[in-house]
Amino acid sequence: AVKRTPLIAGNWKLNLDHLQAIAFVQKLHWKLEEGNHDYADAEVAVFPPFTDLRSVQTLAAADKYSLAYGAQDLSAHDSGAYTGEISGAFLAALDAKYVLIGHSERREYHHETDELIAEKVAAAHRHGIVPIICVGETADDLEKHGASAVPVAQLRTALGGAKKGSEVVVAYEPVWAIGSGQAATAEQAQQVAEALRAVVAEELGAEAGESTRILYGGSVKSGNIAGFLREKDVDGALVGGASLVVDEFAAIVRFKS
Ligand code: G3P
Repeated sequence: AVKRTPLIAGNWKLNLDHLQAIAFVQKLHWKLEEGNHDYADAEVAVFPPFTDLRSVQTLAAADKYSLAYGAQDLSAHDSGAYTGEISGAFLAALDAKYVLIGHSERREYHHETDELIAEKVAAAHRHGIVPIICVGETADDLEKHGASAVPVAQLRTALGGAKKGSEVVVAYEPVWAIGSGQAATAEQAQQVAEALRAVVAEELGAEAGESTRILYGGSVKSGNIAGFLREKDVDGALVGGASLVVDEFAAIVRFKS
């Protein structure tokens, strides 16, 4: 079986300006390096607001932090008359490795459709950025259709924008678990992750199905991370609230110890 390096990703949402970001990232780096700990066995990534990315890039490059970073969204367009948008080209120029696409808050508050999300996936791949495609069912969907149907359909459409052979990451975030303090169980996450992996295999091929990382998100904390990571199809976490507290986020990264 392919070894998938776990990815622990911190989505800061609308928190921390660029000065706060500098302080936070420095503290996180020190914390993770303490006792010669080499960021555990996981890849660590942060997703600050756009205005922080330049500062995070400067820190990461100057001190060779083993910290990846990305944006919380991008435009489906590369340039032109699109006021307020940020392109994949701009993110690539800042060495952003990843970009979150289709977070449930974008779907809900900005009316992002599966089709637009597919276009954004294509935009990320045009610029060599790895899209982290976010999918998940609401409490209502769960009741009406079960856990997998909605995320599976969302992912299938989103992958229509993916370039074959280019990496994608999938984040399964049940909307009812986000910021609620009520995480899914590890078994629930595994069940949906398995279904999502099958979609990746169908849409992008068997190899991609094996190698693609599937993250769980929704009320992840240091106390529940290990359970998720023990599941065979869960390869990391997308963390919101707990990613804003250095010690807590570091404890999540070191889930094994
Ligand atoms: O993208 C991560 C997020 O939506 C989960 O948020 O605060 O429940 O960890 P939280």
